Amino acid sequence: MKKVLVVGGGGREHAIVDALSRSPQVGKIYCAPGNAGIAAQAECVPIKDTDIDALLRFAQENAVDLTVVGPEAALVVGIVDRFREAGLRIFGPTQRAARIESSKEFAKNLMQQYGIPTAGYKTFERYEEARDYVHTRPLPAVLKYDGLAAGKGVVIAQSMEEADTALREMLLDDKFGKGRVVIEDYLTGPEFSFMCFVSGHKVLPMVLAQDHKRAFEGDKGPNTGGMGAYSPLPFITAEDEQFALHRIMQRTADALCQEGALFTGVLYGGLMKTPQGVQVIEFNARFGDPETEVVLPRLKSDIYEIFSAVAEERDPGRAEWADFATLGIVLASKGYPGSYEKGFEIKGLDQVDGTVYHMGTARKEDRLVTSGGRVMIVVCRGETPAEAREKALQQVGRIECDNLFFRRDIGAKGLSGIEEK
Ligand code: AMP
Ligand code: GLY
Repeated sequence: MKKVLVVGGGGREHAIVDALSRSPQVGKIYCAPGNAGIAAQAECVPIKDTDIDALLRFAQENAVDLTVVGPEAALVVGIVDRFREAGLRIFGPTQRAARIESSKEFAKNLMQQYGIPTAGYKTFERYEEARDYVHTRPLPAVLKYDGLAAGKGVVIAQSMEEADTALREMLLDDKFGKGRVVIEDYLTGPEFSFMCFVSGHKVLPMVLAQDHKRAFEGDKGPNTGGMGAYSPLPFITAEDEQFALHRIMQRTADALCQEGALFTGVLYGGLMKTPQGVQVIEFNARFGDPETEVVLPRLKSDIYEIFSAVAEERDPGRAEWADFATLGIVLASKGYPGSYEKGFEIKGLDQVDGTVYHMGTARKEDRLVTSGGRVMIVVCRGETPAEAREKALQQVGRIECDNLFFRRDIGAKGLSGIEEK
C-alpha cells in the first residue's frame, strides 16, 4: 500500500485527501500541516507548507511514495524542483513552469506569442507612463500587479482617480513589493474555471466549475479566495468546452514545453465566456479552491494513478466522471476577507447530510473552533445543479457558529439563465 503526503491545509487539500482515501492503492495519507477536519482522514504533521527542508526530510524519513502539492506558495519557492533533485516523486509544476501563475507578464507574453485568446495588454514599470496610458483609454481600467498578491493585486477601476490611486500604490508605494503592472482591456461575460491535469503535452481535462469570488450576495463586496462553487455549468456549451480544451489548455501546455518550462500538475484556466468567445483571464499552476471541493467528488477514476502518471511525466490517460452535480457553500468568519476573530466554537456538523470540507478549523481541547477566514465548505450532490443547490442551502443551516456568514446565491445566476445573456 502506498504512502502519500499532501502539502497544504485548506478545503482544497481536504478534498484531495478525501479523493486519495478512495484509491485502493493508498494505505496511508499524511497532510502538512492539515487542519482539524483533515485529521479525521489523514495524519496531520505540523510542518508549514513552504518549509521545503522539513517536508523533504519528512518524506524521506517516512518513505513517502508520492507528495501532492496544494498551495501555490510551496510551488513558487521550488518544492517540486527540490523533491525531484532528491529523487522523490512529487505532483506539481517546477518553479519555472509555475511562472504561468506567479508572473502575470510571463503568462500574458506566452499567450500573445502562441495565439491563446486573452485580453489585450501592456506592461509598465514606471508610474508616470502607466498613468498617462490609462488616461488615453476607456473605463473601467483593469490593473494587475505582476506577482503573487494573494488575490488582491487586481483592481478594476471605474474612474481615473481610482486607477491613479491603485497605480500609485502598486508602482510608487510598492504596496505588494517592487513590481510591474499589467494594464488590460476590460472583458465581459460569465467566468468559469477549467482545471486540467497536465503532463507535458498530455492534457486530461476535469469537469468545469464556477467559483464566486466576491464576499457578498449579488457579487458585491471585496474579492475573496472564493465563497462557493458548483459543477457542471449549464451556460457552457460542449463547443465552448472543446474550444477551451484545444485552443487554450492544450496550446498552453504545448507552449510551456516549447519554452523549456514543461508543466506537470494542475493547470487551472480562469476563463471568461465573452461575446467574442472564450478567453483567458488568468492561469493558476494548481488546483483551485473551492473548485476542487466540487470537482474531485465527481471523479470516479483512481486519483493516485493520475497523480503518479503526471509526477513521472507519463500520459495520465482518461478519467471517468460521475453524472451527478455538486454545489458547495463556504462558511467564512465575519469580517473576512478583512480582519476577523478566531476561536469560535462550531457545532452541528454531525447533522449535515452532505460533505463538509474544512478550510480553517482547529481543535481546542475537545471543541472544534474557527481558525481561518474561510472556515468550511458544505458540498451537496443532486441530479441537477439546482437540486444540489437546494440541498446545500438546507444543510448549511445546520451548522451552528456565532461568527460565520455565507452567500445564499451560490449558483443562482448560472442556474437561472442570467449567465447566458
Ligand atoms: P485575476 O486575479 O486575474 O483572476 O482577476 C481577478 C478578477 O478580476 C477576475 O476573476 C475577474 O472577475 C476580474 N478581471 C480580471 N481581468 C479582467 C479583464 N481583463 N476584464 C474584466 N474583468 C477582469
Ligand atoms: N478559486 C480561485 C482560486 O483558487 O484561485
